[in-house]
Amino acid sequence: MELAVFTLVLCLHDVIVSCLPAPFVDVVVDRYDIPRVCPREVETEDFIRYHFNGTFHADGKKFDSSHDRGKAFISQVGLGRLITGMDRGLQGMCVNEQRRITIPPHLAYGSIGTGGVVPPDAVLVYDVLLLDVWNTADEVQIRTLHKPASCPRAAAASDFVRYHYNGTLLSGAPFDSSYSRNATYDTYLGQGDLIKGMDQGLLGMCVGERRIVIVPPFLAYGEIGNGTRIPPQATLVFEALLVDVFNAKDDLIVERNSTYNTYIGKGYVIRGMDQALQGLCIGEKRRIVIPPHLAYGEAGVGELIPASTVLVFDIHVIDFHNPEDPVDVKVTHRPLDCGGTSEVDDWIRYRYNCSLMDGTLLYSSDHYDAPSITTLGADLVIPGLEKGLGGMCVGEKREFSAFIMGQVEEGKGRLRPGVDADTIIQDMFNNQDRNKDGKIVESEADDEPEPEAARRDEL
Ligand SMILES: *[C@@H]1O[C@H](CO)[C@@H](O)[C@H](O)[C@H]1NC(C)=O
Ligand SMILES: *[C@@H]1O[C@H](CO)[C@@H](O)[C@H](O)[C@H]1NC(C)=O
Ligand SMILES: *[C@@H]1O[C@H](CO)[C@@H](O)[C@H](O)[C@H]1NC(C)=O
Ligand SMILES: *[C@@H]1O[C@H](CO)[C@@H](O)[C@H](O)[C@H]1NC(C)=O
Ligand SMILES: *[C@@H]1O[C@H](CO)[C@@H](O)[C@H](O)[C@H]1NC(C)=O
Ligand SMILES: *[C@@H]1O[C@H](CO)[C@@H](O)[C@H](O)[C@H]1NC(C)=O
Repeated sequence: MELAVFTLVLCLHDVIVSCLPAPFVDVVVDRYDIPRVCPREVETEDFIRYHFNGTFHADGKKFDSSHDRGKAFISQVGLGRLITGMDRGLQGMCVNEQRRITIPPHLAYGSIGTGGVVPPDAVLVYDVLLLDVWNTADEVQIRTLHKPASCPRAAAASDFVRYHYNGTLLSGAPFDSSYSRNATYDTYLGQGDLIKGMDQGLLGMCVGERRIVIVPPFLAYGEIGNGTRIPPQATLVFEALLVDVFNAKDDLIVERNSTYNTYIGKGYVIRGMDQALQGLCIGEKRRIVIPPHLAYGEAGVGELIPASTVLVFDIHVIDFHNPEDPVDVKVTHRPLDCGGTSEVDDWIRYRYNCSLMDGTLLYSSDHYDAPSITTLGADLVIPGLEKGLGGMCVGEKREFSAFIMGQVEEGKGRLRPGVDADTIIQDMFNNQDRNKDGKIVESEADDEPEPEAARRDEL
């Protein structure tokens, strides 16, 4: 009895030399460093990329190391491409996990060993750091981090997109970032200009959206990799922010808004009158979205307007007239239909805000004392803006109160009961007469463009 206990203790103490293989009938896995987040565990048939140091259990001597080979080791798990002990010992591993896999000889190189490197009956110890895992069945994964509330347009194939990105490997090691170049990455989408995974991964994205796109190696740089930063068989992780999107087939987008309920009718007349007053078109506002080929094109302007940028103009026309034909402006004639009245050679005065699609304000006429002035067709503004300013509505010169009363008489509206008609009309007039000069449109239309103001029309 005493002898038996003694023998067992001795065995445990001196386990390798005298009692093999009893304690190592199977692979022993010590997961000594497991990352907190592990979205995926290694399974049979997965491809993995990992670093390892292989040592003998007996004396700790190193017999192999991926570091000595100069690159991480790539293999497929569970199909007999590795020794059985590794096929088993790598199961369930997470990227960035470190584990020690101890393998008895019958699950490694057995009683024969391998020529000169591993002696017979050797217990092997592998320290492993997992860098990547993927499977031929993988698809591009998209995780949206932020989606803007308003998304008038989602990126589609053949669109030109501009985006920022941070690119890392699955282990988190960065390989590239657009920020390192201080510029967005600009490209056509879905036409093979990007790696396949990104051509797919950016589809449907909104301007201002932020998403993570995970691309398996066979949809990225595959077995070759790229440069020193992207090793062979690397899964790529992009965090992308879409800055801008347009299509060469895009035309201008012009949103026209009537201003009747903003300036004239509000609170004073009923709906029918409001509709009748639409014909006035004073103070029309519109939004003009100009694709780059009708704005500043692929060059952009200095540091202010990036290359291939969509510009968004919010415009408020104060008035316009044609200096070649001042009589037209003075004609007392109600422009029932506002379309197509402003033409080439028209002198036009307007306020505007010009911003990028993400809302960044570039220019605003509010930065100046006076509104902007330009002449249509005189090549003073970019083609898109010129197109966008065409056909805006002019305010008419006419007796305001006569018009209002005329509308009421024609049954197109009623003045609010219980309030004196003159007061209502006076209020409406004051509302409309924004520079308080006692006139609507006419006084402003009589202003001549000042050369100093005209020079500002770089937009
Ligand atoms: C292998 O050994 C080297 C040198 O000691 C060490 O820097 C490296 O982290 C080890 N690799 C693994 C996977 O344990
Ligand atoms: C990016 O901008 C920063 C700060 O303005 C500057 O220090 C850096 O040199 C720029 N990098 C490139 C590649 O232009
Ligand atoms: C490697 O990346 C560069 C851009 O950094 C790209 O121009 C080149 O085509 C890529 N090479 C391969 C083989 O994909
Ligand atoms: C990229 O990384 C920088 C620095 O961490 C960060 O400021 C930026 O928002 C990131 N951009 C994207 C698109 O993830
Ligand atoms: C036009 O009206 C819509 C709805 O009232 C509004 O959301 C939009 O901002 C307006 N556009 C302009 C250019 O004022
Ligand atoms: C420009 O933006 C300012 C500040 O948001 C706003 O007050 C002004 O009405 C805008 N002008 C136009 C023409 O949309």
